[in-house]
Amino acid sequence: MTRTERPAVPLTGGDQIHAPAPGTEWWRDAVIYQVYPRSFADGNGDGMGDLPGITSRLDHLAKLGVDAVWLSPFYRSPQKDAGYDVTDYRQVDPRFGTLDDFDAMRARAHELGLRVIVDLVPNHSSDQHVWFQEALAAAPGSLARDRYMFRDGKGADGAEPPNNWQSIFGGPAWTRLAPREDDGPAGPQWYLHLFDSSQPDLNWDNAEVRAEFEDVLRFWLDRGVDGFRVDVAHGMIKETGLPDWDGKVAMVEGSDGANGGSNEGPMFDQDGVHEIYRAWHKVLDEYDGDRCLVAEAWVSPMSRLARYVREDEMQQAFNFAFLVTKWNAGKLRDVVTESLETMDAVGAPTTWVLSNHDVVRHASRLGLDETADGPMNGIGPADVQPDAELGLRRARAATLLMLSLPGSAYLYQGEELGLPDHTTLPDDVRQDPAFFRTHGAEVGRDGCRIPLPWEADRPGLGFGPSDATWLPQPESYRALAADQQYGVDGSTFELYRGALGLRRAERLGQGGLTWVAGYADAADVVALRVADVIVLSNLGAAPVVLPEGAEVLIASGPLTESAEGIALPTDTTVWIRG
Ligand code: NOJ
Repeated sequence: MTRTERPAVPLTGGDQIHAPAPGTEWWRDAVIYQVYPRSFADGNGDGMGDLPGITSRLDHLAKLGVDAVWLSPFYRSPQKDAGYDVTDYRQVDPRFGTLDDFDAMRARAHELGLRVIVDLVPNHSSDQHVWFQEALAAAPGSLARDRYMFRDGKGADGAEPPNNWQSIFGGPAWTRLAPREDDGPAGPQWYLHLFDSSQPDLNWDNAEVRAEFEDVLRFWLDRGVDGFRVDVAHGMIKETGLPDWDGKVAMVEGSDGANGGSNEGPMFDQDGVHEIYRAWHKVLDEYDGDRCLVAEAWVSPMSRLARYVREDEMQQAFNFAFLVTKWNAGKLRDVVTESLETMDAVGAPTTWVLSNHDVVRHASRLGLDETADGPMNGIGPADVQPDAELGLRRARAATLLMLSLPGSAYLYQGEELGLPDHTTLPDDVRQDPAFFRTHGAEVGRDGCRIPLPWEADRPGLGFGPSDATWLPQPESYRALAADQQYGVDGSTFELYRGALGLRRAERLGQGGLTWVAGYADAADVVALRVADVIVLSNLGAAPVVLPEGAEVLIASGPLTESAEGIALPTDTTVWIRG
């Protein structure tokens, strides 16, 4: 044994922190793949992805072996925030196709055994929504204005915003209307927008707003969807009186307060939101099958998050605490334990996620330094650039660890190809409102939203029938195109496919979890047992020797051999038969 190797320890014993949880509902252990429609596949050659494009590539997801697909918004929208600004909740935006295209996509997905989850954006609408247009045309104090958060300003002539809240995309969270003849003494009113000024917040104390969204749920349930991802699920109810708050709001709350923002202000996580989800739970119950709601709620501590998935509320909540955890064995063990224990206490499955359309992809994040805490929302050409090789190696190890964990896991399109962010996008192609509202201080999220590479030798890397792509693809995407990875041993696609197949066969999603005793406090090894599989992740520099005779099921990278036996190199995860 070389001195730098870590000797084998028995992989037996240890504390079980999560009991096996055989559940009948599909969402308890599903692997759900996020499709970002504008960047998945383009059916008509306009450079923007669309529903026919998605349908044409669903075979890729069936081959990969996921259970469900979640689609980010494809509804009618001026696309000021890439579709999270909806003008008609019951219509497909012409850029993405038609309702018939949606039905065809849904039918094909179901044929392939894939469930379909759609995005619901209830905290705000687009300013082009007929309700907001009616509110602008109506007088202060009218019923039309009551559907949104209009207020008189403070100070002389109401010239100061109603409070000091800041938009999550930067700048003030209030915009003042143009003057009208029937304005009161406080002059033109202001409206609240936690995000862009084109995304006015709805007033969830208004009964019509509540009824409308229950109807929207039914509209899509009638069209056969299996669930909803609920945008800003922690934001719909604001603290009474809208008190000032001096904190800094953040969509992505980095671990250890890394980006200096938090979600603890009076605009988030108010007790009143739970009544909404109890009502929605009942709506879903009217339908057969196991329909589900998943909360996008950036709240902490985790015990607050668990309140969203109590028995009569939503079914799942994204585990962002896991996403922001550093590449550190102790911290990973802590977040896994806390996640499972907290969700077990309310009978909900834990979820796991490493990437989505709002954060730097984990293949880039983990290539920045020793930690997972880089800039969460975007890397620009002026920033320190990630080490692509290190990032991919760690990303594969992190994913293989994640896919072993009990509960439900979320994948973001392209991570199965090992895609990094585009970290050198020029400013003139950027589209994220966060870039504009912060005057470039934040580059924004465009770098993780690049059109996917399907075929290395085609124009636009096979994104669509033309060479147009709404954001440019980096040269590094060519070698990572899907057709370069199918059937190729050791490719990231085959790693994901292999892991998903084993996860299903070994029923890991429903398994119990035990921390392997010999590594329970190890500074740079995570070792756990789920069902009959032992998982080891080596985050340290020294290779970890595996016990003699260990049957390797899958590894995130090549293992090494020495006189002492097979060893697990740095930044690598392995699954072994227990
Ligand atoms: C969260 C979504 O994931 C993000 O993309 C969007 O900008 C905000 N909510 C506002 O809807």
